[in-house]
Amino acid sequence: MEPQTPTSRRVLVAKPRGYCAGVDRAVVAVEKALEQYGAPIYVRKQIVHNTHVVKTLEARGAIFVEETEEVPEGEIVVFSAHGVAPAVHEQARSRRLRTIDATCPLVTKVHNEAKRFAGQEYDILLIGHEGHEEVEGTSGEAPDNIQLVDGLDAVDKVQVKDPSKLVWLSQTTLSVDETTETVARLKERFPTLIDPPSDDICYATQNRQVAVKEIAADSQLVIVVGSENSSNSKRLVEVAKDYGAEASYLVDDATFIRDEWLEGVTTVGVTSGASVPEELVDGVLKRLAEHGFGDVTEVQPVDERMRFALPHELRKDLRAS
Ligand code: F3S
Repeated sequence: MEPQTPTSRRVLVAKPRGYCAGVDRAVVAVEKALEQYGAPIYVRKQIVHNTHVVKTLEARGAIFVEETEEVPEGEIVVFSAHGVAPAVHEQARSRRLRTIDATCPLVTKVHNEAKRFAGQEYDILLIGHEGHEEVEGTSGEAPDNIQLVDGLDAVDKVQVKDPSKLVWLSQTTLSVDETTETVARLKERFPTLIDPPSDDICYATQNRQVAVKEIAADSQLVIVVGSENSSNSKRLVEVAKDYGAEASYLVDDATFIRDEWLEGVTTVGVTSGASVPEELVDGVLKRLAEHGFGDVTEVQPVDERMRFALPHELRKDLRAS
């Protein structure tokens, strides 16, 4: 028997999606630095976790390096949105590099919390993913006071000096629900555990999760545009599945979509991570339209208007020119 082709195929597009204020600031910082100082501009690590963004900036003269040691003495280096440990600033100074710090202000906020609590001799439980650049940067602020809690299973391994001086902080791009669960488990072990002064999971991560929840229940398939190393994009796939989508996939762009995913599907949800340019979502919508998904509705449960000023080192030079 021939497979049945659904007659009415629609797309629900989550909003907010894509670029957050921190990513926009970091990408524009590299673009403006290239215009202002000329190529090459060195960038430590991927400026934001998106393959397409990195390739586009490379084509314009940015050189991505893993460590500051790879940057020739005296050159300009941009630090990525995920932030760096104080030791990296120190290395840059010792190599006489000119630095432009594109760390997202909301990551800097977590660094400042870590410094403050460490200064008061608190033990800090940092909920986050091992090996993620942001976690490495934050941990570097107070390596003797911070221990990483990577998921529920890590809770039992936590060791603290004094449970009455214990606070938790988190990576900015985690799943809100999962983090709540981890904190609850930590509080069972340490009832005196203090919450951070304000949410560490940033507004953009939270808003994108709220929006994907809204479309997941009505979508058989949710396509999340984002790169494999993007924490917030991967969380969107998990949230989509938890909230009702039968399947959800992370795709770098439209070419990753497989025809068999769409078989028998009538409603596809689409969203994108905080480091994803909108043109990649447009490409996905075009591809879906070719498969008969022409009816596109945007679903926006939250409004978002955040903007951040460019790094001050750059603003100063832009003003002077
Ligand atoms: Fe900043 Fe959150 Fe974006 S921490 S870089 S606003 S995902």
